[in-house]
Amino acid sequence: MKRVTFALALACSVSLSVDAMSGSQQASSSVNGEDAFLNRCSTCHTTDRALVAPRTKRGWEGVLAEMVNNGAQLEAAESEAILSFLTERHGLVNVNTANAEDLVALGVSKKDADTIVSYRTEHGPFADFAALRGVPGVDVDRLDALRTRVAFRD
Ligand code: HEC
Repeated sequence: MKRVTFALALACSVSLSVDAMSGSQQASSSVNGEDAFLNRCSTCHTTDRALVAPRTKRGWEGVLAEMVNNGAQLEAAESEAILSFLTERHGLVNVNTANAEDLVALGVSKKDADTIVSYRTEHGPFADFAALRGVPGVDVDRLDALRTRVAFRD
């Protein structure tokens, strides 16, 4: 398994240097996150590999840092654009750190978002989905529909 990973990493660095030589880095004031993702995250593994699991924003930040360690070359603007793309399209919201605004963006009503945040402030972090669902007064059907986009840690 180790050897496979090593061979993969080697293959990557070769393809990356070819990329660099062809001068493909374009001025990037307005980078499209999806394009940058498709270009930058498909050289060492498929983009499917990058999308196996949705993550929180901090989770994706960690992945990008890890990929830079693996040898990915990302300009700051690209890295930011990719982060927004991944957070919006393959993101999870950590209900233990989210503010009311984040919860509304997730799809919870303003009233429920406020209820959830004040309940958490009073009772501490939610252990799991059942705990979140147990907040008195919240619309559980709506929460159930959002279940796959909710996380309890980063
Ligand atoms: C220079 C090579 C390289 C580039 C470019 C690269 N990766 Fe990776 N990536 C790796 C290696 C090596 C692994 C570990 C082997 C594997 O799991 O396939 C990996 C694994 C991953 C994983 C799985 C991590 C896990 O914990 O399971 C994700 C997610 C990922 N990459 C996302 C990305 C994203 C997003 C980008 C674009 C910003 C990217 N990768 C670009 C080399 C790269």
